[in-house]
Amino acid sequence: STVETDEEVLAAPSPTRRTSKLSIVGAGAVGATMAYAALMRGAARTVALYDINRAKVEAEALDLGHGIQFMPMAEIEGSDDIAVCADSDVVVITAGAKQKPGQTRLDLAEATVSLIGKILPPLVEVAPDAVYVMVTNPVDVVTYAALKMSGLPSSQLFGSGTVLDSSRLRYLIARHTGVAVQNVHAYVAGEHGDSELPLWSSASIGAVPLLEWNGIGGRGALTHEVREQIAREVVESAYRIIAGKGATNYAVALAGSRIIEAVLKDEQRVLPVSSLLEDYHGISGVCLSVPALVGRAGVGDRLQVPMSADELAGLRRSAEAIKAVARRFGL
Ligand code: LAC
Repeated sequence: STVETDEEVLAAPSPTRRTSKLSIVGAGAVGATMAYAALMRGAARTVALYDINRAKVEAEALDLGHGIQFMPMAEIEGSDDIAVCADSDVVVITAGAKQKPGQTRLDLAEATVSLIGKILPPLVEVAPDAVYVMVTNPVDVVTYAALKMSGLPSSQLFGSGTVLDSSRLRYLIARHTGVAVQNVHAYVAGEHGDSELPLWSSASIGAVPLLEWNGIGGRGALTHEVREQIAREVVESAYRIIAGKGATNYAVALAGSRIIEAVLKDEQRVLPVSSLLEDYHGISGVCLSVPALVGRAGVGDRLQVPMSADELAGLRRSAEAIKAVARRFGL
């Protein structure tokens, strides 16, 4: 008979039951906090945590699972078996060496490039259609290496880049001007690291170009000196936090969750993620951050942001700094 039994109906793969799956590789401070942030924001229906440390990853998953009642419905699993990442829609890679006080992100390159080389092939095997987001530092070199090693298209694999740095820049501008951070539109471009640069000339506060901002009631003007100080504080943020608590985790996890949502909800959100550039203002063959559209297929158009001569020079210097490290590993 053509009538299906209840059991047959329930057993059938149902397109409506296809839910969004996020896998996070690395259950350290960043990975676990990112899982928490994504769950609290309802970014994904299923969250899988993978780490080689079985006790740790199972404990993180269990601890998060105990909170499901207080978050948008989700399923959480944790394992030291890479199969837990099977059929993911997004895979975020946070595993890697931690920056020690005073160490630059580029100093981590050797340890993390070889780690990525080990992790990526089995991941792509179990989750070939996932969008891959690198968070591990130095994220620009790691993203470039991961693209070369995986053979994935440059839309399908990108890095968190300066999404976090741009958030720091906006936080500092908002604090100085007294305007809500949601109304500060400013991007940091280039390396997620010491050579990054704020794109002041295209920034705005509300509908006012930032470079024309004279403050409110005589306070909060963004003079050249103030902008220089803010730029320095953005670069120094991570060093300051690492010196105080050993690592950063909250803001980078929230930045990652924002990227995850842009992919899973196909938002076409403008985010300064680190992606492979080809002839972007003449820059090619390097992964670095410029504002780009992020959606279900990964990273799309890199926006042709108008830049001053100084900003263009800074972006080129940043590209060279990243390329110099990548060349050391034959990338
Ligand atoms: C930071 C790390 C994620 O900037 O690079 O906090």
